[in-house]
Amino acid sequence: MIVALDHIAIAVPDLEKSIKRFMDDFGLTFKGQEDVVAAKTSTAFFPLPETSIELVHPLNDEGPIKGYLEKKGPGLHHLCFRSDNIEEDVARLKEKGYQFLSDAPTLGAHNSKVIFIHPKSCDGVLIELNQPMGEH
Ligand code: CO
Repeated sequence: MIVALDHIAIAVPDLEKSIKRFMDDFGLTFKGQEDVVAAKTSTAFFPLPETSIELVHPLNDEGPIKGYLEKKGPGLHHLCFRSDNIEEDVARLKEKGYQFLSDAPTLGAHNSKVIFIHPKSCDGVLIELNQPMGEH
């Protein structure tokens, strides 16, 4: 049985730059870098305490996921980082030059405020920030 999401791997062209992003810009804890010689791969890990897998599918056969599936096919769509103050994080990242898909957070799944960072600002990966608004 599946018990946890162990990790998500992102292929990056500049490892040092990406390590800095996840440490400094997203504030994650850097657990270290390890070269897996047999796989001819250099890795860097940032442990996170909990996560969920989200499946995304077009609602009523329309919307951005429909366009995504037509253009790129099925696959990893986005990573979502939880924030405890989304407006503050958005302002901070905008100041650093990050582009967002909308001007301000909107209401998403699970009564959360959500906003997406443009993949161009993050090595081609679509990143969502969310802040849960309570259990209602
Ligand atoms: Co999501």
